[in-house]
Amino acid sequence: MTTVRAGIAGAGMVAAVHADAIRRAGGSVAGVAASTPERSKAAAPRVGAGRAFDSAEELAVSDEIDVLHVCTPNALHGPLVRAALSAGKHVVCEKPLSLTGADSEDLVVLAANSGLVNAVPLVYRYHPMTVEARERVRRGQIGAVRLIHGHYLQDWLARPDDNNWRVDPAVGGASRAFADIGSHWCDLVEWISGHRISELTAATQTVLPQRSAAGRETFTGSQTESSAETTETAQTTQVAVTTEDAVQVLFRTDLGATGALVVSQVSPGRKNRLWFEIDGAERSLSYDGEDPENLLLGGRDRTEVLRRDALSEQANRINAVPAGHPWGYRDCFAAFTADVYAAIRDPDAGARKAPPYPTFADAARTAHITDAVLHSAAHRSWIEVS
Ligand SMILES: NC(=O)c1ccc[n+]([C@@H]2O[C@H](COP(=O)([O-])OP(=O)(O)OC[C@H]3O[C@@H](n4cnc5c(N)ncnc54)[C@H](O)[C@@H]3O)[C@@H](O)[C@H]2O)c1
Repeated sequence: MTTVRAGIAGAGMVAAVHADAIRRAGGSVAGVAASTPERSKAAAPRVGAGRAFDSAEELAVSDEIDVLHVCTPNALHGPLVRAALSAGKHVVCEKPLSLTGADSEDLVVLAANSGLVNAVPLVYRYHPMTVEARERVRRGQIGAVRLIHGHYLQDWLARPDDNNWRVDPAVGGASRAFADIGSHWCDLVEWISGHRISELTAATQTVLPQRSAAGRETFTGSQTESSAETTETAQTTQVAVTTEDAVQVLFRTDLGATGALVVSQVSPGRKNRLWFEIDGAERSLSYDGEDPENLLLGGRDRTEVLRRDALSEQANRINAVPAGHPWGYRDCFAAFTADVYAAIRDPDAGARKAPPYPTFADAARTAHITDAVLHSAAHRSWIEVS
């Protein structure tokens, strides 16, 4: 098996998860670049990188890598993806692919013209139980889909002294809560149900109009190098907030279902609650990301809790540990990266033509939904998703 040489741009929470997944997929972390040369040096042993690069731009075009993993704050995604593709590198870019739907489409075209592998870790597709949910819908076990509803709730930005680069629209983008986590929910339910959100109306809410300028460490504790940026002055300075803390969305799908979604980063006690329910004519399916080993298969006559055993062939393809041994977030990343690296290793395999993993096109789709959410909230109206 050829060793795929990876470069990781960014050295925070998700970069460490990528590093683990790269190794599990038989790759090597050839290089890492953080926000400064000093921080790159500090990050290299943490992610097990062979070399610390002075900048992400240098890493993106280096002869020492085959694939660039873009794990920086959002505003840097587009420029780094362009640099890497121009240099002939395969790209795994974190979500959001870019800050707008239009720019994301540009990147889709660039990647398609390059013939290089392009992937975005919309990784909740890589839990065996979400794969199982998809298979049950595809096999008609729940009947025609009527309602799709749920929420994605977190609490890490619930307090005025919680802050992060995501709060700043110049770095994180015009949408925060929706682009950050609502995008995952939409991708997942569209992928499972086979429906596409075709029109929506949304209300956004910024519950904390001001936040302490400090607090970049709020998501990851003190483990990442970005936390070093906290200063005493920053702790007492207040900054105005324009990005949304919460969003409520009503939607219709192209295949005639309706739905509702609540997204929040200010819901105390909810750490990462990605919950959805898909109600069909015969049965319903519901999944709770904080209790992911169980899938509820509802029915008028009988309701069952499915465990992570006796799964479909599709779910078992990635199901690398037996039921009772919990499948985790890092396992989702490892399974995703294994699929992406298989496509990198073998250009002639079907994976390049029909990728089993989410691509730039899937991420562009979520960017269009995000644009529609912001547009609808600003105009207080229903709008079509392009
Ligand atoms: N797919 C998922 O489930 C998932 C989960 C978490 C984060 N993400 C995405 O991953 C990205 C990073 O998020 P995170 O939670 O790891 O953030 P983080 O704050 O923990 O880390 C960001 C890192 O980027 C570095 N950085 C800043 N400017 C840089 C520059 N110019 N060059 C190189 N590095 C630079 C920071 O110093 C830090 O190490 C975001 O786009 C986020 O949306 C995706």
